[in-house]
Amino acid sequence: MKEVPQHIDVLIPEHEIKARIKELAQYIAEDYQDKPFIIVSILKGGVQFSAHLILELGRLNLDPHLSFLGKSSYGKETVSSGRIKTTLALDTDIEGQDVIILDDILDTGLTLKTTLEEDIFPKNPASVKVCVLLDKAEGRKVEVPVDYLGFSIPKKFVVGFGLDSGENYRSLPYIGVVSTS
Ligand code: IMP
Ligand code: MG
Repeated sequence: MKEVPQHIDVLIPEHEIKARIKELAQYIAEDYQDKPFIIVSILKGGVQFSAHLILELGRLNLDPHLSFLGKSSYGKETVSSGRIKTTLALDTDIEGQDVIILDDILDTGLTLKTTLEEDIFPKNPASVKVCVLLDKAEGRKVEVPVDYLGFSIPKKFVVGFGLDSGENYRSLPYIGVVSTS
């Protein structure tokens, strides 16, 4: 078994993340039983979460389409620059479709708010819901309505399960905090 690196404190272990994603898939399945929908996953942080979620949805006999959109705000820093850069344009026509936009974490809210306003709403989808794995509510600067939430966490910089610090730690199978000691 892979050892937990010494300088990372585990905040949410892998089994808890997976159990919660299973639950989120059940909520989504209840809401989208017979209608097709599309999950738009925000890269790069959303990649692990969307991959796990879509498999859990598959177990429940749902087959959402999956699309990606790249956004970057942090660069190498651990504090949002406030400038949200598009690193990959949405490649799917979402007009008239039921869309779930998915991200790894909601902090200031700027990434999701900008994405909704610039990339999603102007394309006239039939409906839009927001799904995030983690929420740092204390960090919020702009309001974003969340429909499906994995975990509320304290205002700490976290890594793992797709989340990075300067592109490192995305591969950790758990959510952890890089310790300063
Ligand atoms: P927001 O724009 O401040 O809401 O932050 C959202 C984006 O910043 C997410 O898509 C993440 O990629 C990144 N982010 C926010 N907080 C963290 C963190 O604690 N660790 C790693 N990435 C984060
Ligand atoms: Mg990131």
